[in-house]
Amino acid sequence: MSAMPDLQSLWMPFTANRQFKAAPRLLVSAKGMYYTDAEGHRILDGTAGLWCTNAGHGRDEIIDAVHRQMRTLDYAPPFQMGCPVAFEAARRVAALMPPGLDRIFFTNSGSESVDTALKIVLAYHRARGEGQRTRFIGRERGYHGVGFGGMSVGGIGANRKAYAANLMPGVDHLPATLNVAEAAFSRGQPAWGAHLADELERLLALHDASTVAAVIVEPMAGSAGVIVPPRGYLERLRELCSRHGILLVFDEVITAFGRLGAATAAERFGVTPDLLTLAKGINNATVPMGAVAVSRAIHDAILGAAPENAIELFHGYTYSGHPAAAAAAIATLDLYAREGLFERAARLEPVFESAVHALRDAPHVKDIRNIGMAAAVELEPRAGQAGARAYEAFLACLQAGVLVRFTGDVLAFSPPLIIDEEQIATLFGTVREALVRIR
Ligand SMILES: Cc1ncc(COP(=O)(O)O)c(C=O)c1O
Repeated sequence: MSAMPDLQSLWMPFTANRQFKAAPRLLVSAKGMYYTDAEGHRILDGTAGLWCTNAGHGRDEIIDAVHRQMRTLDYAPPFQMGCPVAFEAARRVAALMPPGLDRIFFTNSGSESVDTALKIVLAYHRARGEGQRTRFIGRERGYHGVGFGGMSVGGIGANRKAYAANLMPGVDHLPATLNVAEAAFSRGQPAWGAHLADELERLLALHDASTVAAVIVEPMAGSAGVIVPPRGYLERLRELCSRHGILLVFDEVITAFGRLGAATAAERFGVTPDLLTLAKGINNATVPMGAVAVSRAIHDAILGAAPENAIELFHGYTYSGHPAAAAAAIATLDLYAREGLFERAARLEPVFESAVHALRDAPHVKDIRNIGMAAAVELEPRAGQAGARAYEAFLACLQAGVLVRFTGDVLAFSPPLIIDEEQIATLFGTVREALVRIR
């Protein structure tokens, strides 16, 4: 039992602060698949932290690499200077990206990766004499972090509401692909919905394709509750973007590094974007880090348009390629490879899928969706109390020693890729008991 800290000073992110502080939930340590809470209870991590600790917690190989790096070089300025570990981390990340996306720009978070990608898109079109391409097209229910760029292309109403008057101009949105009436209880990619990509044609006719800089989507929307792309949908978006000279950005902050049983969702779905945003699993969330993987053609166009000896892209962060984050990334990618964790996720996917879909007859269940090692159970909202059921189910799971995520009336699951079959059974068995217990 650890002492309760004074909770007042910390303003918690994306948290019901008053509710939380009235009944705090504190995690004090973690190892492998388990957290330990302040009362000493062991809690199975059904969410890989926040979709990020893909190799499990407290991995000695990563911790040791960070320690070694900190003792050797704690920090080096990334502007006009470099450090070997950042270059090596970039090389290692590039090697996992789809063919051609081998230029890596480091950031410190998914939000920064998205805003960086949007800026690279604008710089690219300008470098090629197409500076009129300034519009972005995102998607309803999309989540691209909390920067003004990412929030603007994002499509979650609550995240935009307070800032609506100052969002980035020139942004439009595709419709979300989730349709419970048409595709409830789909296993993997729904058969219904590829035609929704054709909505892009409508937006291009409206705005004129020559003004559109990029389309940005999560290949699988995570934060909105595991919305899996319909079969043929991403292929169609790719084809339309290529036809109209529009760049396609995949936000893979959640989907990269094994979540879908491959290095990237692009690889899993066989669709290659022009830019791909990364964070989270890039270094197992040990030290904050994000990145943008950029096609060599885009990189070369921007570099080639700048005068000799001039800075080519006026953008960067004090902590871009921070030595500790970079060392953690290299050690993490080593671990993924040595333990075959992406392949393990692919192998376990059918077990995970069967286990989550077995909840179909549990109380309150409206839809179940899954792909790779990600799944969601959408609940019928309780009349007049949207979100209450999922919150209560989350609490019941936590009391029973399992951490799940809830957003609205959706429960989401994304365990570390080291999870075993027994733990998968425990995870979904606990969810079933929680659904039986709540009203
Ligand atoms: C697809 C996607 N993009 C961007 C972000 C933002 O990442 P961060 O919270 O590291 O800024 C997230 C976070 O969950 C995400 O899922």
